[in-house]
Amino acid sequence: MSSTTPPVLALPEASAGLSERLTEGLARVEELIIESTRHEDGFISEASTHLARAGGKRFRPMLTLLVSELGEGISEQVVAAAAGVELTHLASLYHDDVMDVAELRRGAPSANAQYGNSTAILVGDLLFGTASDIIADLGADAVKIQAQTFIRLCSGQIRDDRPCPEGQDPGEYYRGVLADKTGVLVATAARYGAMFGGCPPETVAMATEYGERLGVAFQLADDLIDIASDSDETGKTPGTDLREGKRTLPVLNVLASADPADRELQELLRSDLREDSRLERALELLRAHPGMAAAREETLAVGRRAIEALAPLPDGDAKQALVALMDSVVHRVG
Ligand code: IPE
Ligand code: IPE
Ligand code: MG
Ligand code: MG
Ligand code: MG
Repeated sequence: MSSTTPPVLALPEASAGLSERLTEGLARVEELIIESTRHEDGFISEASTHLARAGGKRFRPMLTLLVSELGEGISEQVVAAAAGVELTHLASLYHDDVMDVAELRRGAPSANAQYGNSTAILVGDLLFGTASDIIADLGADAVKIQAQTFIRLCSGQIRDDRPCPEGQDPGEYYRGVLADKTGVLVATAARYGAMFGGCPPETVAMATEYGERLGVAFQLADDLIDIASDSDETGKTPGTDLREGKRTLPVLNVLASADPADRELQELLRSDLREDSRLERALELLRAHPGMAAAREETLAVGRRAIEALAPLPDGDAKQALVALMDSVVHRVG
């Protein structure tokens, strides 16, 4: 478990009572995650708790708990839903690091670096099974939502791993990938919170929409972080997207520029950036490029749209905290 409170969870706007309930709820989620990933086989136990023990922000379970506060608040079912979401996320991280050839995750060696690709893939599958097991206790609707969420998440990941098809707009392709690979699980985190917090269907729909937009903003910020932050802040290796030839929004902005001064960077971005000196130069030029600021603007705009989805809800502690959460998501550096 992380030893410090990550800034994304700090929620300065939350009242003392709400903060206390969230902290207590997260501790229950943590307990359930650790308990459900324990295995009689010592190696399986170690490999399947590896990333959970390494740290992580617990952003998605936190969102489930917080959204439940729009209704009747944190219950056993809300805690189970939150743990199910984090386990689904964890499963996707084990797989993501295989496909992105990533070596560092949550400040620790990635599962693929530590145990090899086969184990990382199979532990990801095991964790997805564990998540489904927990969610099955919440009823058929919850299982169906999780299944449909994972189908969309994987379809986003598959398309993220492939170039934009000929004839399709790369920006449109990229935004679709973000919504699928990241937006949908954040939407489900919020949706479960509202469902199991006993909220009326209109609130469930608003929370889901808020979550989807918040998830897209979260991934836009993640793509900026890959370029602008260092490993101490993220627990990941900077430039992983570039190394893998991913065309994230700042890269697309640079490639769309007609300014001759951008030619060096454009050529670098079209080349194989697995070579260290080229990657360093590309990162240096990208960090200073106005395409970064434009991508930041879009992140803020999507964050504002997330808040708009909550507009019909009456003001209150939980709603204010959801606004603050959006603010930490769009400004995060790790
Ligand atoms: C990483 O998610 C994968 C993305 C969707 C960007 P997080 O940034 O929430 O990772 P942890 O859980 O804090 O490690
Ligand atoms: C990952 O996106 C999205 C999912 C895990 C579904 P990234 O590949 O950008 O995530 P990080 O940067 O490795 O955490
Ligand atoms: Mg990755
Ligand atoms: Mg990836
Ligand atoms: Mg990333």
